[in-house]
Amino acid sequence: MGNYGNLFGWLIVTGLVLTLLNYPVKAIYRKWVAELDNESSFKRGYLKFQQFIVKYHRFFGLFTTMMLLTHLIIQISYRWVSRTGIIAASLLVLNVILGAYGHYIRKKKRSAWFYVHRTIAVLTTIAIVLHIVMQGR
Ligand code: HEM
Ligand code: HEM
Repeated sequence: MGNYGNLFGWLIVTGLVLTLLNYPVKAIYRKWVAELDNESSFKRGYLKFQQFIVKYHRFFGLFTTMMLLTHLIIQISYRWVSRTGIIAASLLVLNVILGAYGHYIRKKKRSAWFYVHRTIAVLTTIAIVLHIVMQGR
């Protein structure tokens, strides 16, 4: 079962990559794609892709959380309670709550929540790298 735990660990990482794409996809648009001709089929395709990534951002975050729950249950049952894992998980869950607050209560208007949301995303990524490098310790 522990091997399934590791599989779900990698599914969390996959979900997180999809969630985090929100940032680079917009950054690449601003830097290189925005200046292209509006008729360009590449630009139109890119905008479709960007819309998809932004529209489903919260669902990618939710998928990530469900994979996290599964990983957590399996690892606690068949392996051990990981300290670095708990730190990564707490940051991730905190960011989901913050994202929901920004989306539904703040109606996506950028204010402090948005910059904290971005910062916690970076901290979560660092915590997960540590968790994997330390082999779940
Ligand atoms: C965002 C949160 C987390 C992510 C992305 C994550 C990801 C991963 C990944 C990818 C592995 C496999 C590493 C490998 O293949 O060598 C792993 C291993 C492990 N994780 Fe997590 N994890 C998270 C949270 C947690 C939590 C909350 C716990 C437990 C309370 C936990 C417990 C473990 C344990 C015990 C292992 C090692 C299992 C073994 O090697 O037999 N993780 N994690
Ligand atoms: C794994 C959890 C999550 C991570 C790591 C994460 C990360 C991020 C990042 C890095 C940005 C910045 C994008 C930019 O600079 O434009 C962002 C934006 C945003 N996030 Fe999240 N997020 C997560 C979950 C959620 C959830 C669950 C929701 C809503 C229910 C949400 C709502 C938002 C909103 C409204 C924005 C700003 C505007 C937009 O792009 O729509 N996030 N998120």
